[in-house]
Amino acid sequence: MRVEFYRHALDEADIEASTQTLRSVFLTTGPMCARFEADFAAYTGLARCVSLNSCTAALHLALLALGVGPGDEVIVPAMTFIASATPVVHVGATPVLVDVEPDTGLMDPEAVRAAITPRTKALIPVHLYGVMADMLALKALADEHGLAIIEDAAHCIEAERDGVRPGELGDAVCYSFYATKNLTCGEGGALCTNRQDLADRVLLLRQHGMSKEAAKRYHGLYQHWDMVELGWKYNLSDIQAALMVNQLARLNGLWEKRRAVYQAYVGLLTDIPGLWLPALRGKSAHHLLTIQVPAHKRDGLLDHMGESGIGVAVNYRAIHTLTWFREKLRYKPEDFPNAHAFGSGTLSLPFHTGLTPEEVALVAGAVRGFLGIEPR
Ligand SMILES: Cc1ncc(COP(=O)(O)O)c(C=O)c1O
Repeated sequence: MRVEFYRHALDEADIEASTQTLRSVFLTTGPMCARFEADFAAYTGLARCVSLNSCTAALHLALLALGVGPGDEVIVPAMTFIASATPVVHVGATPVLVDVEPDTGLMDPEAVRAAITPRTKALIPVHLYGVMADMLALKALADEHGLAIIEDAAHCIEAERDGVRPGELGDAVCYSFYATKNLTCGEGGALCTNRQDLADRVLLLRQHGMSKEAAKRYHGLYQHWDMVELGWKYNLSDIQAALMVNQLARLNGLWEKRRAVYQAYVGLLTDIPGLWLPALRGKSAHHLLTIQVPAHKRDGLLDHMGESGIGVAVNYRAIHTLTWFREKLRYKPEDFPNAHAFGSGTLSLPFHTGLTPEEVALVAGAVRGFLGIEPR
């Protein structure tokens, strides 16, 4: 590859912190997870953080902790990654997909209003690419109808919109620390919340419903543990948490670098007829750099970029167009025209803190070349 799609920003201090954990006695969920949880809760401004092994696990446990189950409906935008919806199926409830705003790809509050039924229990707004959904409008709707909100902030740690940050208005907010995320440990996640009851229940459910986790059993005299609920095995390890403690302290600086890369792309791409970038709302976490091109040109552009040695991806084809959703939930592509159009025209360009101006120019030049526009 001449230009990588993504490169992580782990530095020597992060690697050293993880190495120190490897040299210590305790590898699983222990003091480093506790330290990370305290630091991350402070960063988000929320009362509690429970570290987990993925955002998918966080969404699953949020639904369980809120008592969502068979017979319930949960409203999810059609323009997202599949993991925003599949945990709803895993708890036995039905994901009810809704259309998105055409210019942002974010959950449309009016579409949500139209989809609410007496069975609706919760909303899962997705802060796509790092831009927050309209939480003020969604919170007003949720309060009007007695619904819970679980925010999918897999893309969105650093954002703010209308003076509101992720998790501030929701019952719970779910984060991903997957390999390409703004804060990463390869695979990981967290659930943050101001609700003590939810955090306590998620703590229990993340480790088999055991009354004492390993860190509590390890110190001093052996203590018996009990299984008080049917739980899962969703905890994070100290090896991974150690990678994120220093990284979290650098997060705002890393964001500044991505914002500069975003602005460089904007300067080189926004004069192209038929090409546009999703609209921003408030402060974006700048997780992904996506462009929109005419749908009939998207896959050709993907191939052209790949053949030019430039890493690209699609985030995402709208989930209601995927086989499982069409066959099991009987969705048709035309059910959500905005999501279908958005997912058919989207393409993600290389985007990370280490991209040089020369690389950005090379990527933009390849896009312009394919679309028949003179280089800038
Ligand atoms: C919007 C969204 N939600 C949820 C997830 C799931 O995150 P994880 O891989 O940590 O389970 C992702 C992962 O990319 C995502 O993009």
